[in-house]
Formats: sequence, C-alpha cells, structure tokens
Amino acid sequence: MEFVAPCLLGLEGLAANELKFRGIENVRAENGRVLFSGGYASMVRANICSSMCARVFILLAEFEARDFDTLFEGVKAADWSSFIGERDAFPVKGNSLDSALTSIPACQKIIKKAVVESLRQHYGISWFEEDGAVHQIQFRIFKNRVSVMLDTTGEALNKRGYRAMSNDAPIKETLAAAMVDLARVRADHTVIDPFCGSGTILIEAARKALGIMPGIDRSFAFEQWSQVDPDIVEAERQRARDGVRKDAAFIAYGYDIDEEALAVARRNAELAGVGDRIVFERRDISDYKESFDRATVITNPPYGERMLDIEQARELYRIMGERFERKPGHSYILISPDDSFERCFGRTADKRRKLYNGTLRCQVYMYFR
Ligand SMILES: C[S@@+](CC[C@H](N)C(=O)[O-])C[C@H]1O[C@@H](n2cnc3c(N)ncnc32)[C@H](O)[C@@H]1O
Repeated sequence: MEFVAPCLLGLEGLAANELKFRGIENVRAENGRVLFSGGYASMVRANICSSMCARVFILLAEFEARDFDTLFEGVKAADWSSFIGERDAFPVKGNSLDSALTSIPACQKIIKKAVVESLRQHYGISWFEEDGAVHQIQFRIFKNRVSVMLDTTGEALNKRGYRAMSNDAPIKETLAAAMVDLARVRADHTVIDPFCGSGTILIEAARKALGIMPGIDRSFAFEQWSQVDPDIVEAERQRARDGVRKDAAFIAYGYDIDEEALAVARRNAELAGVGDRIVFERRDISDYKESFDRATVITNPPYGERMLDIEQARELYRIMGERFERKPGHSYILISPDDSFERCFGRTADKRRKLYNGTLRCQVYMYFR
C-alpha cells in the first residue's frame, strides 16, 4: 500500500527522516506531506512512532481531474472493497485549492456516489447501512490533482493523550517535537524551557529522551477495522514498549511567570509519564540564570500576537539575548514569527529553519556551541 502522512509546512524532511529511522520503507518528503509504502505493520508503526505527522492516510487513488465525470471515474476505479466492508461507514470530507473543481459539497457528493457504485458492484447490494466501523474518506485536490485517501488515524496524531488542560497559547505537540528534533535532544541531556507554559516542549523532549513513543497511550481508527490483524497491532505496541529507556539521565526545567500555566504543565507531565523528569518553577525571564556544564534551551516565547504586543515581545527577546550566555556545551533553539528576532536577541543564528505554525510563518533560530 501507499501511505500519505501530512505535516506542518517546513517539517517534511524531519518527519520523513524520523519514519526512515523507524524502519519504514520508501519514504519520500513532498510539500506538506510524507509518503511511504508498506503493509499494515508499517501503517501501525507510523501512527505510533511519528511525532511530527498529523495523520496517516492510505492513498487509494491519485489522478488529474478538471470535471465531475473524471472525478467520478477516478474514484470508482479504486479498490474500495478491500478496505470497506458491507456494513462499514464511509463519510467523505476534503478540500480543494487552485483547481477547477471548487465546490467541496459537490465533490463530496460525487466521491460518495462513486464509492457506493464501486461497493455496490462488489457486494451486489444497493443500500449501505453504514452502522459499522468508520472509514473516513479524505480527498485533497491541489492544482487539479486529486488524492483520495482513507484516514487510518482518527483523532489527529498531535493528540497524544497527555494534554488534559491547556493554557492560552500552547504550541502544537508536532511542532514542539520538531524543535526537540532540531535541538538534537539525547537521553542524557538537560533541557530548559524558560517560557514553558503548559510544558509541551519539555514533555516532548522528555518522552523522546526516554524512548516513549508519541502514540503509545492512545487508540487509532484502524483498531476498529476488521481487516487489520490485532496481532500486528499488539506486536507494534510491544515493540514501542520495548524501546522505553527508563535508565536515561534526562532532566528538564520549566519556568514561567504564570502559576496557573505551571499547574497545567505539572499535570500534563504527570499524565505523559514524565512528571519525575521535569522540575517546574515560577520564574520571570529577567531572573533567568543557570550554571549547568551543558544545557539545551528550547522555547517558544510570546510572539506578540495572542500574548503581549509586539514591542513587549521584542523586549523579551532582548532580555533573552542578555540572559542566554554564549558558552561551550550550551545550545539555544528558539521559535519566532518576528523577522527582527536576531536583531533584538543580539546574535545571528548558526542555523535557521523556516516553517509554519498553522498559518503563521515562523523561523526556528538555532545557536549551537
Ligand atoms: C507562547 S507561550 C508558551 C506556550 C508553551 N510552549 C506551551 O506549549 O504551552 C509563552 C509563555 O511565556 C510566559 N511568559 C510571558 N512573559 C514571561 C516572562 N517575562 N517570564 C517568563 N515567562 C513569561 C507566558 O505565561 C506563557 O506561558
């Protein structure tokens, strides 16, 4: 089978490398998505292991279409009966960009009709109850190229199951995981987030250091599908459990001025199984100081969008520049949408990476020593 795993723009290469590292085959990075090939074991593994992808879809058809007839025939030709049983539900949703087929409801209707026609020919029935397992059909039309997919994930992969509560401006778990990846966090690292909010970056860092797979605690849509052998799922879950390294020396420190955010962070860290690895403390960035031999600071300070205004945010960047000492063994991985970040911070980054936090264009600034 061919699979498609969408991700935030700018994370494609990182997300692809992670899947390759987990033993997934034929992985290719494209704009906003990663493709790979394999059987159900690869599908289960990608869902459990990918920290940066949003979902895993089975790609059932990909073709050019500028009119509804071509859309209908292209969808009908796909092998639907191998995936959708007689009683299964198969709702359709999707989007279209820069294409001749612009009406989403009309595309939904045509695709549904085409799938029904294909299943009708296979099962010899004309009415589908759709009271069985949900097989969400997702389409994407981009520049007249149609992709028709089945969602194997269900609730998006950034929902790890540990975020019971959230504060005002939490970073998406997938983006936090990407920053942790860029920071090259290892099992013996000391990681600090001086604007930790609900603790997402440190929780992602701790789980990575301890080998706790992002999807280990949650369920997936494919678990309801009769064609997926539960033994394969259990084998992949066991493989993930075997990878946990409880002996890792990892420790992290999270600071924030907001006591309520810190309470949320403590609770989330407990739920994520890393409560004993992260110390949370109320501290203003103006009082930031640390004396570790080695430390990795990973943070998303207020942007001046949802929190503070732009000038207040820039003042924080200036204070960070003063407080974050340039010394051997210390690296700083910082995200901001503000193009004047380096000027306010006072240092040119060793490396930069452009990416999108949702629709907001940001850069990750990396200072390695
Ligand atoms: C963008 S949020 C960080 C969100 C966090 N990454 C998460 O996932 O929840 C910025 C955080 O900076 C904190 N903050 C604002 N001004 C601060 C200051 N002067 N010193 C320390 N923390 C501050 C806010 O309370 C907020 O929690």
